[in-house]
Amino acid sequence: MASHTVTTSAGIKMPRFIYGTAWKKDRTTELVVKAVLNGFRGIDTACQPKHYQEDLVGQALVTLQKEHNISRESLFIQTKFTSIDGQDPQKIPYDRNAPLQDQVSSTIIC
Ligand SMILES: NC(=O)c1ccc[n+]([C@@H]2O[C@H](COP(=O)([O-])OP(=O)(O)OC[C@H]3O[C@@H](n4cnc5c(N)ncnc54)[C@H](OP(=O)(O)O)[C@@H]3O)[C@@H](O)[C@H]2O)c1
Repeated sequence: MASHTVTTSAGIKMPRFIYGTAWKKDRTTELVVKAVLNGFRGIDTACQPKHYQEDLVGQALVTLQKEHNISRESLFIQTKFTSIDGQDPQKIPYDRNAPLQDQVSSTIIC
């Protein structure tokens, strides 16, 4: 039987199937919890409020830990940096005037 994970050239083990959270809007928390309870161990999100509710993915992680004893460490979460051109001008999740390096590092924790 094929492995459920692959190991990247950087040595990171990641699931072959990842649950995507774009366009889930205010159902994001509920749907991420449901996806994990049904077997997903990888979640895709992005610091791009135009398409993703990354904060609600975080809420799902809290619910999974508190209510289902599924730890953050058992899940693979990937996020992405989106440059200004791909952001909704009304919801840019970082300081548009900051140096690129700072925009990227604030994406990691947004
Ligand atoms: N599109 C992008 O540019 C992009 C970029 C980066 C990352 N992603 C990631 O990839 C994920 C998927 O994006 P996508 O562009 O492939 O989305 P998509 O074109 O909307 O495809 C979603 C797929 O999920 C199926 N689906 C939706 N609800 C379902 C349900 N309840 N049960 C079974 N199947 C269901 C849809 O089936 P039907 O066609 O039958 O409705 C469709 O095949 C995103 O959530 C995001 O995390 C996308």
